[in-house]
Amino acid sequence: MCGIVGYVGRERAQTVMAGEETNGAHGALDVVMEGLRRLEYRGYDSAGVAVLTGDGVESRKKAGKLANLISELETDPLPRSLTGIGHTRWATHGGPTDQNAHPHLADGGRLALIHNGIIENFAELKAELLEQGVVLISDTDTEVAAALLGSIYRTLSEAGTPNALPLAMQQACQRLEGAFTLLAIHQDSPDLVVAARRNSPLVVGLGDGENFLGSDVSGFIDFTRRAVELGQDQIVTITPEDVTITDFHGAPAEGREFHVDWDAAAAEKGGYPSFMEKEINDQPDAVGQTLLGRTDLKGNLILDELRIDESILRSVDKIVVLACGTSAYAGQVAKYAIEHWCRIPTEVELSHEFRYRDPIVNEKTLVVAISQSGETMDTLMAVRYAREQGAKVVAICNTNGSTIPRESDAVLYTHAGPEIAVASTKAFLAQITAAYLLGLYLAQLRGNKYRDEIAEVLSDLHEMPEKIQHILDNADHVKKLARDMSDAKSVLFLGRHVGFPVAMEGALKLKELAYIHAEGFAAGELKHGPIALIEDGQPVVVVLPSPRGRDSLHSKVVSNIQEIRARGAITIVIAEEGDESVADFSEHVFHVPQTPTLLAPLLTTVPLQIFACELATAKGYDVDQPRNLAKSVTVE
Ligand code: G6P
Repeated sequence: MCGIVGYVGRERAQTVMAGEETNGAHGALDVVMEGLRRLEYRGYDSAGVAVLTGDGVESRKKAGKLANLISELETDPLPRSLTGIGHTRWATHGGPTDQNAHPHLADGGRLALIHNGIIENFAELKAELLEQGVVLISDTDTEVAAALLGSIYRTLSEAGTPNALPLAMQQACQRLEGAFTLLAIHQDSPDLVVAARRNSPLVVGLGDGENFLGSDVSGFIDFTRRAVELGQDQIVTITPEDVTITDFHGAPAEGREFHVDWDAAAAEKGGYPSFMEKEINDQPDAVGQTLLGRTDLKGNLILDELRIDESILRSVDKIVVLACGTSAYAGQVAKYAIEHWCRIPTEVELSHEFRYRDPIVNEKTLVVAISQSGETMDTLMAVRYAREQGAKVVAICNTNGSTIPRESDAVLYTHAGPEIAVASTKAFLAQITAAYLLGLYLAQLRGNKYRDEIAEVLSDLHEMPEKIQHILDNADHVKKLARDMSDAKSVLFLGRHVGFPVAMEGALKLKELAYIHAEGFAAGELKHGPIALIEDGQPVVVVLPSPRGRDSLHSKVVSNIQEIRARGAITIVIAEEGDESVADFSEHVFHVPQTPTLLAPLLTTVPLQIFACELATAKGYDVDQPRNLAKSVTVE
């Protein structure tokens, strides 16, 4: 949600964008536009840039996609500059209009500001500024922040204060409440960008004679792999040569430098028509990479990153999994596995519900926070709340340098690589894989399972990439059905046991990508209500458990299929290879390779992702950036 890029370079910076012949620094506009393009996946509905030129600040902004801003820049070009900021906005305060797009100008047009987050006390600040005669022209909280910064800057500057912009930013931040990443440039400081962050993402990129800022490393991945992670409530000032970090009161602070190991090419489509298709096809790797290097030579599970004292992990008497969206469905799969393997009561809760209901968490609670981005505000706030109550928090996260892992006691990284399409696919499978590893690790540590039992599950897990690949290679039937069903008005999904979260994820994918009404139900719940929805021709996707699994699980779902068929449903069944039990009374059956029941979500999810992606594509929708959705939801 909201993408932010900042750049400052000197005329003879050394790094050169791949394939570009230039002896000088990158133009700020090129860097910023490239960064915004890479950050598109976060979700946005308007975009804008500002650069510093010899004449001062110049800005262009447009509602809609980046293409609109690009044509605006073609009609009304900006001069070459070495300092600039850029923004993609996901509307919160005020609709997605040209006027509300960022940057917002202040101090008589000499200062430009961009913002991600929500300024919670903006109404009070606005009243104060209006009283002082400030004129505001947009509906945004950001313009209020810009006006506040501008007014503080003017006072400091007129008093002859040196280094006035960073100082003004510090003072402004002391007045702001809520969540924000702010980036500002001012005409008086031509080679400087000042930024601040509270509860909102910001990473620094280190170049040679140039420095960068981004909402995440994608914002500058084309230019540098050296990045610095910032802490909470910090101000960072970048010039071509320096990066200076302080707290909101000017006290020096430090960031943690890290190397970005994502390959820029990995963030490209790799020949697929969409990132979503690429990411669905990346899944054998995403699962394989997440499993990599997590056992020692004796076959023991080693989770190096898990730096919570083993005695604490042994004494845990409850696990609470917190997440939102697709990650929450990964959490539901985790519950089945962890309770089965470790016998620890495990609850799964949506992060935003958790912290407002006075939950019972204490020193004996282990919280598992699952987040692809590591920036979901609801989950971050829930993590903070849980830690305040004494709980230990393990994050399962895909994004190095993000906030949730930094604020957790330990982190288990999923190594799915950058996930660009807004709706999650490969991160989901990687999260489930990491959750299995965590469950097995706890079972090993607490002695719930013998080593050979754990080794057997690990060996099953290591077979998963190949089995996923098999599904991907044999997906034509799913794709054809999806295209044939592109006129469907509603699709229901049924599952039982671990198939239940898979059904909900299948329904979510269809809602997100194809804008079709879809619901996932527990198959056992059917008779308690949802069966009333079944009428002639209603498509129902059923995730059928393995017939080799737990007694009666399979036969109960087979009965459910018969019940809905009797009422006119068209059934589409995801069954295990060799299971022909429903062949005679289902319109469509897709087979996935045989696998133990608990691990089946790594396979049964895949046809449902392909189904949603293909159906949405057939309808002509942009599967990478569905309407109204944001990849990284950084506001509550
Ligand atoms: C957004 C995305 C979803 C994602 C959810 C949680 O809603 O559109 O795809 O599952 O956020 O995101 P996280 O980064 O915390 O996993």
